[in-house]
Amino acid sequence: MQPVACFQNRLERICGKKMEEYWQKVEAAAGFLLRKIGRPPKVGLMTGTGLGRSLSALETVFAVDYKDIPGFPVSTVTGHAGRLRAGSLGGKPVVAMEGRFHLYEGYSPKEVAFPVRVMQAMGVGTLILTNAAGGLNPDFSAGDIMIIRDHINLTGENPLVGKNDDRWGIRFPDMTGIYTPALAEMALQASVEKGISVKEGVYIGVKGPSLETPAETRFIKMIGADAVGMSTIQEVIAAVHAGMHILGLSAISNINDPDRPAPVTLEEIVRAAENAADDLAAMITVITERMDA
Ligand code: HPA
Repeated sequence: MQPVACFQNRLERICGKKMEEYWQKVEAAAGFLLRKIGRPPKVGLMTGTGLGRSLSALETVFAVDYKDIPGFPVSTVTGHAGRLRAGSLGGKPVVAMEGRFHLYEGYSPKEVAFPVRVMQAMGVGTLILTNAAGGLNPDFSAGDIMIIRDHINLTGENPLVGKNDDRWGIRFPDMTGIYTPALAEMALQASVEKGISVKEGVYIGVKGPSLETPAETRFIKMIGADAVGMSTIQEVIAAVHAGMHILGLSAISNINDPDRPAPVTLEEIVRAAENAADDLAAMITVITERMDA
């Protein structure tokens, strides 16, 4: 065999093996959870920094630490909630992740997307994600909630890189209208009814962990972003591949103005996100009550 063909064959075998291992891990985790939960969840929730309380309305019937789920990535971060809960929210069977995996922690894109694959394997059809984000749009204030209408992936990573596993989805998923308009409308309606100040816009995902320089902030504003964060994108791409309906809600935790740069600390971000958690909980409860799932 020619060296190039031989190398390609080897690469093919290695990629195929990796793909199969990933599939098996997801199946093991999903099987374990389904046996514990009983009722298959229809809605998945992923909460961001300081937003654990946005799950306060969830009636939990089962909870487990990530480290006790077979195959789950092991959290390397101290103080990370790292718990999965299953139960009922707005009358729907849900599974919720308290704490997610981030690229900046050193997880690969596929590890970050792992919980979404587990949800897919369990039969989840709708994914609701929350995150803390820095506001870029001059109309935004800290404490606002932004309904994500679209995103820009500036992380340089993608969980679909590598051999495509057709069992999960197609090779080249379309990325138009990925944040389900009907869910965004429901979120808007819920905010009006509850008197919560919401904005709508484009979320830009960066890898982090360093925050943005003023020049980077100017750039990401210029290319069309309204809010910036270090999560969500990898999970959303996997969820699109899985054919899920998606709702993304950002708690605007700080404002980034390149002309008046001000230092931001994690403590400030967490505090502001915690303040938005009750509003998010109220909105998510109404949305889950009304959605078809
Ligand atoms: N930049 C990036 N990620 C963030 C920010 C920010 O300003 N705020 C919360 N997450």
